[in-house]
Amino acid sequence: MFLTKEEEKMLEGEYGEATRIAMRLIVKVGEALGAQKLINVNSAQVSGVSYKNIGDPGIQFLEDLVRSGGRSKILSTLNPAGMDLKNWTMMNIPKEFAEKQLKIINLYMKMDILPTCSCIPYLIGNSPNYNEHIAWAESSAVTYANSVLGAKTNREGGPLALASALTGKTAYYGLHLKENRFPTHYIELKTELRNSTDYSVLGYLVGKKIRTGVPLFSNPKILPKVEDLKALSAGLATSGSISIFHIENYTTEAVLNKKQYQSEKDHMEKISIEEEDLKSIFDEYALTSNPDLIYIGCPHASIQEIRKLAHMLRKKKIKRDLELWIGTAANVKILADRIGYTNIIEKSGGRIITDTCIVVSPLKTLGLKRILTNSAKACYYLTALEKLDVGIAKLEDCVDTAVRGM
Ligand code: F3S
Repeated sequence: MFLTKEEEKMLEGEYGEATRIAMRLIVKVGEALGAQKLINVNSAQVSGVSYKNIGDPGIQFLEDLVRSGGRSKILSTLNPAGMDLKNWTMMNIPKEFAEKQLKIINLYMKMDILPTCSCIPYLIGNSPNYNEHIAWAESSAVTYANSVLGAKTNREGGPLALASALTGKTAYYGLHLKENRFPTHYIELKTELRNSTDYSVLGYLVGKKIRTGVPLFSNPKILPKVEDLKALSAGLATSGSISIFHIENYTTEAVLNKKQYQSEKDHMEKISIEEEDLKSIFDEYALTSNPDLIYIGCPHASIQEIRKLAHMLRKKKIKRDLELWIGTAANVKILADRIGYTNIIEKSGGRIITDTCIVVSPLKTLGLKRILTNSAKACYYLTALEKLDVGIAKLEDCVDTAVRGM
């Protein structure tokens, strides 16, 4: 691999041990994947934050990096942690877990990585432009950044995204190259997509069908909003290894390359999505009795989703044996607090939790068995990893269940 003089110095340890370790990792992975050179990246989204996921070996690794002078060279943000960093007692988090979790956050902050603890960095200040090279972990955010923003990133693992944060570099391969971003499958939408849960299910379904590649969706009748696109991104990245999609005449690269995509369409593999296909996923994740918890916020809820929820929950009461949690980023909650949405939600019996999500928090300590959510990604992981009974429903139906039961 070609390295500039500066990059060679980084690799030889002239800029400290942490930079050397990080550079070595990037170069090794790049070489294995056939990269010819490194490029600069402008931001990183680092995963591997929950103590549940990284454990004591992860803490040890971060401590070593801090001790050897690791500091982020670019704007870097963090994925969700294993608990609400402020209100963790409310989540029944054991004290020992909380102490370790706070230690992890502290170590990242020592490396100048922002404790955003959210999977929607693009809505809270880490929002790259079209064509900007970045190094992000968190599959849903990677897919959103590539597809909606037109930024360029591979789906990094946590250590590699951290290595990019510490060096400002990544290897030039995969989705950093224009030719790998070209659609491989044409997805003809023969059904209406009415809400973000439909988009979440659509993504999950298409990921399941094609597993890998770059889907180009036909133009939906009603154009998707930010919340729909974030749900679609998460769904696609869950059941497949899809990190970029396009929507005809709508997403940036589909508009810019319209003629080329049009002329190549006949050579792409075609898949039709009918109402029945979406229904099959709703049937796969159907609850037959009341859930213990209704969870909204996978990916983290936007302020618009919290606004909608506050309007729906005004003057309503959540059933006594049910909990409603809304997961979001801490700075989104600050807005919700200010305008009074949090107050309305809490008066109804719901809670806004920040910095975490139910997939990366130690759910077992909460004693939950049945969960209802509006996210196909949450359904998939909670079923596969936690062996819970999980159902999916659109936002309005989740609120209805919270208030009336099933
Ligand atoms: Fe985000 Fe957790 Fe879902 S990280 S995308 S809320 S699984």
